[in-house]
Amino acid sequence: MAKKIPQPTNGPRERAFLVGVDVYQQRSFLPLQDSLSELALLSDTSGLEVVGELTQKLDRPHVKTYIGPGKVDELKLLVEETRSQAVIFDDELSPRHQRELQEALGRNVKVLDRTALILDIFAQHAHTSEGMLQVELAQYEYYLPRLTGQWTHLERQAGGGGGRAGSTGGVGLRGPGETQLEVDKRAIRKRISHLKKELEKVEAHRSRYRAQRKRSKIPTVALVGYTNAGKSTLLNRLAKAEVYVADQLFATLDPTTRRVELPGGYQALFTDTVGFIQKLPTTLVEAFHATLEEIVEADLLLHVVDISHPNALNQYQSVQATLDQLGAQHIPVVTALNKVDQLRDPDAAKQVVSHFSAKAVTISALKAIGIPDLLRVIQEELYETYAPVLVRLPYQQGALISLFHEAGQVERIEHGRGGVLMQGRIPGRLLAQFRNWQVSPNYQEPEEEEAEL
Ligand code: GTP
Repeated sequence: MAKKIPQPTNGPRERAFLVGVDVYQQRSFLPLQDSLSELALLSDTSGLEVVGELTQKLDRPHVKTYIGPGKVDELKLLVEETRSQAVIFDDELSPRHQRELQEALGRNVKVLDRTALILDIFAQHAHTSEGMLQVELAQYEYYLPRLTGQWTHLERQAGGGGGRAGSTGGVGLRGPGETQLEVDKRAIRKRISHLKKELEKVEAHRSRYRAQRKRSKIPTVALVGYTNAGKSTLLNRLAKAEVYVADQLFATLDPTTRRVELPGGYQALFTDTVGFIQKLPTTLVEAFHATLEEIVEADLLLHVVDISHPNALNQYQSVQATLDQLGAQHIPVVTALNKVDQLRDPDAAKQVVSHFSAKAVTISALKAIGIPDLLRVIQEELYETYAPVLVRLPYQQGALISLFHEAGQVERIEHGRGGVLMQGRIPGRLLAQFRNWQVSPNYQEPEEEEAEL
C-alpha cells in the first residue's frame, strides 16, 4: 500500500501533539485513526514533528474545551511529558474552544487546528498573485476572531521550513504573525476589504479569459481529486506540461490549463485545480471560489482517485460531497483510478470500478498505463454521448437556440411569447451551457405572457 514518506524538513522542527475526537453527531468520511494519520501528514508538510496523539469519543464537543475536562488534564500531562510546543486538533476549533484550551494548557504551548495547518500549507504553496491573495484573505478571515497572539508557529514558518518559501515575495503572505496580530481588528478588516477588492479585479480578468476559452468552442475538462491523487502527474502525462509534482499535500494550488489531443483529431482543454481533502476549511472554499469556478464551469470532470490508498473509496466520496457543495452535480464525470502500478493485483482494481462510477478507467499516470483508454472514454463522453434535456430558452438566447439545432437532436419545440421550449438530446459537453434554462417536464408558460397575447 502506498504510504507517504514524510518530506525531510531542514532545521529543528517544532514538536506537535495531535488530538482527534470521534464526535458521534458529526459525519466524518474517514475513521478517526485514518483522519489522524492524515493530520500527521499535514503537520509534517507544515514542518512540524509529531510526537504523540490522544483520542476521545464524544456525543458532542464539550462546550468550553472541545474535549472533556478530564481529557484536558490528561492532555496537559502528555504535553509536558513529550515536551510538545504545539497541540493540534483534528477539527476546526471555535474561537472559544481555542481560547479556553489555551488557558488550560498554558502559554508555553500553542493550540492549533487542522484548518490552521491547511491554511499554512496553502500559504507555502501559493505562487500566483491570485493564489496568494486568496490564501491571505482566508487566513485573515480565520484569524480575525482568534486574535490572541498565539499563532507564532505560522510566523516562524514564514522565514524558512519546507516548500518554496521565497516565492511569497516577502509581503507577509504566509500568515498574519505576531506583529500583525497585535494590530487592531480594524486594521485587519481594512486589509480584508482591500484583498476582496483586489481579488474582484483578478476574478474579472479570469472570467474574461474563461469566456474567451468558451468562444473557442474547445471543451474544457477539470481535473479534480483528493490531494496527492496524481492530478498534476496525469496532466503532465497527457499534455507534456511542466506542472509541479511532489509527494506532498496540496503541491498544486494555482489552476494550470493545457490543450490535450484526443483520439480522432479532437481536442480538449484540461485544467488542474486545487486538491480536495476531507474537512476542507470553509474559509478556504470561500476564498478560492474563483479557482473552484473552473470546476463548476467545466464541460467534464476528470476525477482522479489514488486507488492504491487504503481509503480510496472514502476519499472519492469526500470529493464527490465537495463537488455537490460547489454545485457541480450536473457535470458529467469520468473517473481515473490512478496508481494501479502500486497494486499487487492490478486486475483487482477493475473489480472495484463499479463502486466508483460506470465511466471509470484504471490507469497509472506515472507509468503510462491505460492512458489511451482514458482518452477514448473522455472523447466519447465529450463528443459522442448525448444527454436528454428540456429547456425553455428566452428569444434573447439566440446563440443557444441555434447551438441546440446545430449540435443536438431536437425532439419537440414549442414557441411561446417570451421564449422557446426545446426538448431533445445534446452532447454532454454542452450540458453546462444549458443548465440555467433547464425546466421540469410539467413546465407551463407564465400566465401574464399568455394574457398579453
Ligand atoms: P495535489 O497538488 O496535492 O492536489 O496533488 P496531485 O493530485 O496533483 O498529485 P501529484 O501529481 O503531485 O502526485 C502526488 C504523488 O503521487 C507524486 O509523488 C507522484 O509521483 C505520485 N504519483 C502520481 N501518479 C502516480 C502513479 O500512477 N503511480 C505511482 N506509483 N505514483 C504516482
